[in-house]
Amino acid sequence: MTEFSYIDTQLHAESCSIPDLAERHGTPLYVYSRAAIEANWRAFNQHLPSPHRACYAVKANGNLAVLQVLARLGAAFDVVSGGEIARVLRAGGRAEHIVFSGVAKSHEEIAYALQVGILQFNVESVAELERISQVASATSQVARISLRVNPDVDAKTHPYIATGLEANKFGIPMRDAVAAFRLASQLPGLEVIGVDCHIGSQLTELSPFLDAMDRMLALVDELNDAGIEITHLDMGGGLGVTYADETPPNVSDYIKAMLTKLDDYPQLALYLEPGRAIVANAGILVTRVEYFKPSEKKDFVIVDAGMNDMLRPSLYQAFHRIENVNQNQHTSTTGKPCDVVGPVCETGDFLGQDRQLQAAEGDLLAVFGAGAYGFAMSSNYNTRVRPAEVMVDGEQDYLVRARETLDDLWQHERLLEHEC
Ligand code: LLP
Repeated sequence: MTEFSYIDTQLHAESCSIPDLAERHGTPLYVYSRAAIEANWRAFNQHLPSPHRACYAVKANGNLAVLQVLARLGAAFDVVSGGEIARVLRAGGRAEHIVFSGVAKSHEEIAYALQVGILQFNVESVAELERISQVASATSQVARISLRVNPDVDAKTHPYIATGLEANKFGIPMRDAVAAFRLASQLPGLEVIGVDCHIGSQLTELSPFLDAMDRMLALVDELNDAGIEITHLDMGGGLGVTYADETPPNVSDYIKAMLTKLDDYPQLALYLEPGRAIVANAGILVTRVEYFKPSEKKDFVIVDAGMNDMLRPSLYQAFHRIENVNQNQHTSTTGKPCDVVGPVCETGDFLGQDRQLQAAEGDLLAVFGAGAYGFAMSSNYNTRVRPAEVMVDGEQDYLVRARETLDDLWQHERLLEHEC
């Protein structure tokens, strides 16, 4: 990952020094590299000539500037809420480049999506099919739909981010799929164009994707025999990245393997919905050491970023590499393993455990791989303002989200009018 590298012992994002960014914008601070986002996007896009396409999964990082950078490259988007549709449009993305996934689309969200003219709905249940049909026909519109089918494939990832097993809430079970497609092709206001699946996130092997694809293509054959013609196959997101020593397939091998399977299906356009693979390693979280606290068995490096700023380690026991921003720092540690912990009053509030780290009070640390599901999953727990976000572009840096203020936090709260 060349966009974050040490120059004269100081970590840089492209040509911007991290200590300088921290000085000017404060910490905790998310820093994204525009060059990295663009390179990651191109790695997908170059292997997906039209009519194939990649739809960036907005949930991974929905900052308007991130979406703007991708929209300018002509990206399509995978969204899971009306809010994400609005974000994409606000950032300059085009409605006809949006696919709308998610298990609980409300009447209002469906109406909004139809009104702005999105590309397609990825439908997750028969009940949702009926609701979209009602909303579309009530306004004399036609909703293009793909049915999300659950291929019952083990993604071999953390159970919280596996989505393609029958035990998960997502999609229509494979055995019910043909009946659901039959219903869809009869309901008013719907145009059936595709099949869709998403088996999980942070997959580091190719085989689950290919197994899922075989099952989806068998379904396409079955539908064809039933007279239902499918033109889009959406295989979801899920390609893993390297946080520690994982070796996920590279983007080119992953896409080529999938496209090879489509050799006998010239009518099918392949859609992919990458999120993590576009932004995870294009972002870091910069945090300052507040205290160094030695203890009997291990030391605690207490930093100013907590689980509210970066939830992944606490929620999924996810590993993120943590390094001192200044490589020449040789102070304060005792040689014992350190836990890098935050200010939140929870034992589960850690960014890393049992690390070998040189760090003293006042030092800056970088948490790598923080561009995906980092800020996106942040909260105000413990009445903590969410961090600022900066995007660097060569020597320039742009504040793309200001640090929240306390007034931001309670602006929608009200005191009781009369004292009780
Ligand atoms: N499409 C659908 C329908 C999805 O549900 C997801 C992610 C994606 C695409 C993008 O998947 P990706 O390429 O990013 O793996 N918060 C968790 C990840 C949850 C992913 C949920 N769905 C984490 O921090 O690991």
